[in-house]
Amino acid sequence: MSSRPDGIVIAIDGPSGAGKSTIARLLAERLGYIQIDTGAMYRAAAFLLARAGVNLDDPAAVEHFCSNIDIRLDSVSGRQSVCANGLDVTDQIRTPEMSLLTSRISKLKPVRKALLKSQQRMGSRGGVVLEGRDIGTVVFPDAEMKFYLSASVDERARRRFEELTCKGEAVTLAGTIADVTERDRQDSERDIAPLRQADDAIPIDSSHLSIGEVLTRMVTMCRNKMESMESSL
Ligand code: DC
Repeated sequence: MSSRPDGIVIAIDGPSGAGKSTIARLLAERLGYIQIDTGAMYRAAAFLLARAGVNLDDPAAVEHFCSNIDIRLDSVSGRQSVCANGLDVTDQIRTPEMSLLTSRISKLKPVRKALLKSQQRMGSRGGVVLEGRDIGTVVFPDAEMKFYLSASVDERARRRFEELTCKGEAVTLAGTIADVTERDRQDSERDIAPLRQADDAIPIDSSHLSIGEVLTRMVTMCRNKMESMESSL
């Protein structure tokens, strides 16, 4: 098996709305692994920074603030909850405004430094599915399994629009396409840990695939990997 005590590290990177969270949750359930939604951690950090009114243009203030943040992910009956400095922020971090703010703060070095460390700590024992933008490139470049999950902008925006309208958010499809495009730009053009497919990641385009189809492919590849690692011992 892997040199990690609890299993392998599975990285799922890709742009927003590609279905990473759903797939990561289902994959983790199938394998008996823990899901780590790193986007939720960046969202929680954005929430705390905004609530405290920290000046985002002052790197020292951001660094000082980030050295004292505590973000915890928990899973209760299959539902992920996010706790930031003792406060349950699970629902508040999912608004379109928070998405854009998160994209902005995730460019900042002190924010990334603080979250990188805790993500590496959370995943170091293995037996985890981490999803984000830089898992296979920066957080766990040595992950045993790496996927890059993408879909066309229109398809990702359509999915996000449906999700938001189901929650009762007053959004338009055109507005959602603009938001998704802007977040793609911010996430892939930033200097530190930009959204990028790792050279050794397996690309999966989910535009024309169902969740079940994507999941079946990934489960098969992960199990094959685990078997080949076991038999090479
Ligand atoms: O996956 P998500 O939409 O919840 O992510 C929210 C934002 O956090 C997204 O704009 C990019 C950022 N993010 C990041 O920079 N690095 C990660 N590993 C995960 C998310």
